[in-house]
Amino acid sequence: MSTKTSQALQSQQIELLSRPDGVPTKGNFSLVTVEVSPISGGEILVRNQWMSVDPYMRGRMKAGDSYVPAFKIGKPLEGGCIGEVIESNHEQFDMGDQVLGNLGWREYWKSDGKGVQKLDPKLAPIQAFLGALGMTGMTAWVGLKRIAKLRPGSTVFVSAASGAVGSMVCQIAKAKGCMVIGSAGKDEKIRWLKEKASVDAVINYKTTENLSEELGKLAPNGIDVYFDNVGADHLEAAIDHINNFGCIVCCGMISTYNANEPAAAPRNLFKVIGKRLRMQGFIVRDHMADREEFVREVSSLYRDGKIVCEDTITEGLENAPSAFIGLFNGDNLGKALVRITKESE
Ligand SMILES: NC(=O)c1ccc[n+]([C@@H]2O[C@H](COP(=O)([O-])OP(=O)(O)OC[C@H]3O[C@@H](n4cnc5c(N)ncnc54)[C@H](OP(=O)(O)O)[C@@H]3O)[C@@H](O)[C@H]2O)c1
Repeated sequence: MSTKTSQALQSQQIELLSRPDGVPTKGNFSLVTVEVSPISGGEILVRNQWMSVDPYMRGRMKAGDSYVPAFKIGKPLEGGCIGEVIESNHEQFDMGDQVLGNLGWREYWKSDGKGVQKLDPKLAPIQAFLGALGMTGMTAWVGLKRIAKLRPGSTVFVSAASGAVGSMVCQIAKAKGCMVIGSAGKDEKIRWLKEKASVDAVINYKTTENLSEELGKLAPNGIDVYFDNVGADHLEAAIDHINNFGCIVCCGMISTYNANEPAAAPRNLFKVIGKRLRMQGFIVRDHMADREEFVREVSSLYRDGKIVCEDTITEGLENAPSAFIGLFNGDNLGKALVRITKESE
């Protein structure tokens, strides 16, 4: 604990101005300055360095709660962030500690320490705890290990393969000795997947005429696991080519998040029966008890050079809405992050 009497300070934050209709626009957000009052006994004050933008936040911008409460109009958004403790009246935190919290989209935040984790900067660059060694890396690991129960030698198809979750799914599955087929929407991403992530084959779903036919050509013996980040036509193609007793890991369906109408695909869901498929959704936060095992396994793959952490960094809190909107335009390769302050500032 390191005490210092704080003064009220000015902090910028991004608030939800209106609920998006379709694809979010910058007009749905506003940047405002608020005053943060001094910390009390048992509290810390954190200055954010990094924040995460994630597709699930789109769901929280809709009215009505899902598995997480909806964001409120006129209130700051929330999400994964990493910052430095700049004042502490808490016995478990010292000034200078780097911590992981859930109050992104702002410069400063106070906490009583509940749900705040101290990070070990020796393990990896600190921002990796929002990506490869954080929530998105863990989503990939849980989906493959706990849901698919992946076995070496399997053929795995991954959609949004070059994104935060997808890039980790590809690399963990390769490290496990699987054949991996990805799909992504840009040639630059396809090059990265083949050259840096050692993925065996990649489909550009935006230029291919028939996704299902293309998948069939690349996997003549079928796929065993489909890791679904996209839903709709990708899910339909996977159902067409998955082998009997295969597993579909339902992680996300980003192609549907901005739609006002339900998706037209998959039209072939009946094949789940004849093929005796297992299709299972999951939410990573239900698996937090496994976090230490995940960090141990994945940081060891990272140290051994079997995993490359890729980030797309947007500079400045004021540009966080653009970074978030960019997720739906495919702007990011690897984890989409916003740098709020440089460590030297
Ligand atoms: N179940 C869980 O606990 C959990 C946890 C974290 C994330 N997720 C889900 O996992 C998925 C990936 O999340 P992420 O954080 O790793 O995001 P991400 O993949 O880093 O970013 C989103 C990517 O999705 C692709 N995309 C966007 N719109 C698309 C569309 N209409 N059709 C096809 N691809 C589209 C884009 O890449 P292209 O250039 O390739 O189009 C974009 O870069 C999301 O569905 C998310 O909701 C689930």
